[in-house]
Amino acid sequence: MKKNVLVTREVFDETIAFLGLHFEVDSNQTDRLYGREELVAKLRGKDGVQTSSSDRVDGELLDLCPTVKAVCNTAVGYNNIDIEACTRCGVVVTNTPGVLTDSVADYSMGMVIATCRRMTEGENYLRGGEWKGTFLKQMLGQDVHGATLGIMGFGRIGQAIARRARGFDMKILYHSRNRAALEAEKESGAAYVGKEELLRSADVVLLILPFTPETHHYIGASELSLMKPTAVLVNMARGGIVDDAALIQALKNKTIRAAGLDVYENEPKFNPGFLELKNVVLSPHIASASEPTRKAMAMTAAKNLVAALSGETPPNLLNPDYRKFSKA
Ligand code: 8YV
Repeated sequence: MKKNVLVTREVFDETIAFLGLHFEVDSNQTDRLYGREELVAKLRGKDGVQTSSSDRVDGELLDLCPTVKAVCNTAVGYNNIDIEACTRCGVVVTNTPGVLTDSVADYSMGMVIATCRRMTEGENYLRGGEWKGTFLKQMLGQDVHGATLGIMGFGRIGQAIARRARGFDMKILYHSRNRAALEAEKESGAAYVGKEELLRSADVVLLILPFTPETHHYIGASELSLMKPTAVLVNMARGGIVDDAALIQALKNKTIRAAGLDVYENEPKFNPGFLELKNVVLSPHIASASEPTRKAMAMTAAKNLVAALSGETPPNLLNPDYRKFSKA
C-alpha cells in the first residue's frame, strides 16, 4: 500500500507526477495558504508533508498529526519549522540547499544595483509622468563598482554573491557566526571583519544570514546608526532579521541612504511605512524565483520526501538526531 503525503502549496505538475509514483498525493494546487485548522485536517493520517516556507510546523501541529514522519520544506531557510519539536517527535526535516544558490546570488546583485542606482525610483518617476528632460544632477546614485560590500552571513549564497561582486570590482568584507575556510575567503576575495567594523565600513550592507532567535532584529536602530549616511542596506535573508520600524525611521531621517528589500517582518503583510518612501526598492520574496530554480527546489523537496519515507537518509537531512525518537 502506498504511503500518503500532503503537498501544502502549489508545485509543478512534474513534482506531483514524481510524488505520485511513490505515494497517494493530496496536493493543494491553489495559491492559497492553509490556515492552521485546515492544515491539521489535511495532514491528519498522512505519513509526510512537502511544505512551503510559509507553513508553520511546530510541536502542537505534530501532536495533532501524529502519523507524520517527514517534513520536507521547499526552501533553504527553515525558520518556519521547529526543528527541535520535530526531532523530539521522531520526524525527519529537510530543506533545499544548493539548487537556489546562483539564482538568489544573481538577484541579490540586481537588488544591490537597483538600490544604489535608484532604478525603481526612476521607473516610478517615468511612469508617473514626471520626466521632463535629462539633466546633469538628475537622480544621482551611488556607484557599485569600487564600493565596499559588507556581506553578513557567508554560507553558500553569501559566497556566491561575493564571487559576483568581484566582477563589479567591489571590495568585499564579510561577517558570520563562524569564520569561513581560508580557501573560501581566497576564492571570493572576501575579508572577515567584526559586525561593527562591517557596519561602519561598508557602502552596501547585504544580509544573507539564517533567521534564528539569535538573529531576531540583528539590525536595529543602533546598528543602522553605525552605518555611513551614504550606505545602503539590502535584506535578502528573512524578515525579522531587520527591525523594519527602525529601518523606516532611518530611511526617513537619512541615517542611511537607501534600502533594498526582498523580505519583511510578518510577510506577506509588511509595514506600510515602506510605501511612503522613495529611497527603498521592494520586491515580494522572489530572489529564488527563476523557473528552473523553483522547479529544482520543488523536486529536491519531493526527492527528500521519497527518501525519508523509504527509510533512507534524505539528501538534505537537517536533524539526524530524529533517529533517537523515530517512529519507524
Ligand atoms: C523562498 C527562500 O522562501 O529558500 C528560501 O529560504 O527564502 C526562498 O527560496 C521560497 O522560494 C518559497 O517561496
